[in-house]
Amino acid sequence: MDNRAIGVYDSGFGGLSVWQELRRMLPQESLIYLGDGKNCPYGGRSREEIRGFATAAVERLVAEGVKMVVVGCNTATTAAVEHLRATWQDMPIVGLEPAVKPACLTTRTRRIAVLATEHSLRSDMFLATAARYASDVEVVKVVGEGFVELVERGAERSPEAEDAVRRVVEPLLGEGIDKIVLGCTHYPFLRPIIERVIDGNDIAVIDSGEAVARRVKWLLERYDIAADGTKMPQYSFLSFADEEYREALERRAESIARELK
Ligand code: DGL
Repeated sequence: MDNRAIGVYDSGFGGLSVWQELRRMLPQESLIYLGDGKNCPYGGRSREEIRGFATAAVERLVAEGVKMVVVGCNTATTAAVEHLRATWQDMPIVGLEPAVKPACLTTRTRRIAVLATEHSLRSDMFLATAARYASDVEVVKVVGEGFVELVERGAERSPEAEDAVRRVVEPLLGEGIDKIVLGCTHYPFLRPIIERVIDGNDIAVIDSGEAVARRVKWLLERYDIAADGTKMPQYSFLSFADEEYREALERRAESIARELK
């Protein structure tokens, strides 16, 4: 048993979609969320740059005394998770993989789309996952152009967000695609619009939030480091950007938590 917090890290607000699933599935666990904010978006950056940001983030979370880190960002996972695991060998580090596997296992049309950042779609890890589970499944890769920026601005319900989603998702309709995988943790915040755009097309949207929370639960049990339930869970928020950004993260998380109840 271990009452220390779990660290959750993302380039910005996106990892809150993972934070939400962790909070739902593991209500006794304290969570320290670090949303970089200063260097977001990561999607168009080089592997070296992202690796540097991710290392600084994990250093910060370790300084806060976390027992585990969840990299709540596909882009940082693809660029840095192996490096992070090699650096902190005694601490479980959970990465995020786009939900390509469940999509490949359930597609009937054998054609799926993965929406992710440019960096994730280029990465070896993504290609390896796709090859492992999708040898006879065609994977259409699409960058969610502008999606991260919209979510960072809190504009995911705006007409501008509707336009951005339509531009990216409408071309996928009528193409025999029956699954859309959200391979970036910012994208679930645009899910209501995505669902509206695909309505009536028999396409399912899949994200990785719940699967990653299940994996964390399993690791807590396996290493015997789950919270013992004697302490009220605490939720705190950190950022490499300014205090205003940090407070915005906190407010967004509070509104997510209200929806969970
Ligand atoms: N939320 C991130 C992801 O999962 C990164 C978005 C970005 O900073 O470009 O890919």
